[in-house]
Amino acid sequence: MANSLAFYGIVVHCREDTEIEILEACLLVVAADGRIIHISSGVHRDDLPSLLGRLQLSQEPRLRILSKTEFLIPGFVDTHNHACQWGQRGLGGGLHILDWLNQVTFPNEAAFQDPEHAKRLYSACVAGFIKQGVTTCSYYGSLHGDATKVLADVCLAKGQRALVGKCNMDRHAPSYYKDKDDAESLQVTQSVIDYIRGIDATGILIKPVLTPRFAICCTDNLLAGLGKIATQNPDLPIQTHFNEARQEIDMTLSLFPQFANEADLYKFYGLLTNRTILAHCTLMTDEEIEKLRQADSGVAHCPIANTTVGGGFMAAPIHRFLKAGIKVGLGTDNGGGFSSSILDAIRQAIIVSNARQLMHGDPSLSVWQCFYLATLGGARVCSLDHKVGNFQVGKDFDGLVIRTETDDGVMTMVQEGDSVRTVLEKFLISGDDRNIAEVYIRGRQLKCLPLSSAST
Ligand code: GUN
Ligand code: FE
Repeated sequence: MANSLAFYGIVVHCREDTEIEILEACLLVVAADGRIIHISSGVHRDDLPSLLGRLQLSQEPRLRILSKTEFLIPGFVDTHNHACQWGQRGLGGGLHILDWLNQVTFPNEAAFQDPEHAKRLYSACVAGFIKQGVTTCSYYGSLHGDATKVLADVCLAKGQRALVGKCNMDRHAPSYYKDKDDAESLQVTQSVIDYIRGIDATGILIKPVLTPRFAICCTDNLLAGLGKIATQNPDLPIQTHFNEARQEIDMTLSLFPQFANEADLYKFYGLLTNRTILAHCTLMTDEEIEKLRQADSGVAHCPIANTTVGGGFMAAPIHRFLKAGIKVGLGTDNGGGFSSSILDAIRQAIIVSNARQLMHGDPSLSVWQCFYLATLGGARVCSLDHKVGNFQVGKDFDGLVIRTETDDGVMTMVQEGDSVRTVLEKFLISGDDRNIAEVYIRGRQLKCLPLSSAST
């Protein structure tokens, strides 16, 4: 992060809500500490030197002039990702959730007992997500403390912004892959939290997150202990799986007959808070939607996993969440879903919303709403919107340079006369990582594709 940076060209982001803002001839300047210090649009190219001069930077910034077929967008936020499922992604499609966990997932996750295995898999996983423009990721690790510390180390070394959690599970799991008891699970959790706070004291890039897998896998004592840690640490985010599928809800309520629904259950244990990330939320009553709104908890929408593994075809009521003012972001659910791409999650979110429209009459989601979910919406769900999610002076610069004309890409062809909106839509609907030419996190460049003949 030695040098300051400046970009000049087209910049697109969401300012407040799901409406996009297109800034043309925009100058965006990032200080050496990775924070955005200037944004202005409608700047004439000839005026760049004087404008930059007025900013009185200690050194001249590296100026990146975007070509006509390039633009800058905020980095993608993946609100739900099992890093330890990188090696099993897409397997077990069609299995219902508890069978999928037992047959596919637990055997895979158990291998993270070996920190060398963890290092290899986590390095590949984090690199794979950075390459696809995921600048912030909320990760579940395995239940192992050592391996989860490795995951935090890998994120920090590679420069990805991340929430990292040791997965808590002290029951209803095979003996070879289960926390010994609640006391051990809590002790390992605390040790992972302390470790992460030790390697990144102010949480600049990496933060710990409490990660009860779901209530089925957690005893009453474990949930109560995690709730206590949450209360004692009001800055600590929490993530879990919530109302994912019929099989899971039925078993949860049979294990906790004292609660009418999962919202009441997590609330009772102090885990339904304004910093809680609830993955899936597919089967929701109006009453539970209202409870999420009151708690100001966020939803990690995982449309790929929701329609391929776990419970059949589950169309979460995203329009209703947004209408109620509930925070919503996208998750790849790496592991559960077949894809590790937020672009694919955008597309699947649209498809699923079309199904929801047919089944329940809810309006379907637009591509622009999904762009919001992938960026600012996700940042809000992770309680990181004061730092990232869009481009504002004072926020950290997490951004992607999108190149819409490449030699080997396959996105819908850009044509003479296309508006910026049309080109962005073409990218969101048909682009892939070959169009994500540059990735920056906190001003540090983590990906740089060579220029292709098509874009020069
Ligand atoms: N519920 C509990 N664990 C998991 C998991 O690993 N993936 C999904 N999709 N649901 C879960
Ligand atoms: Fe999941």
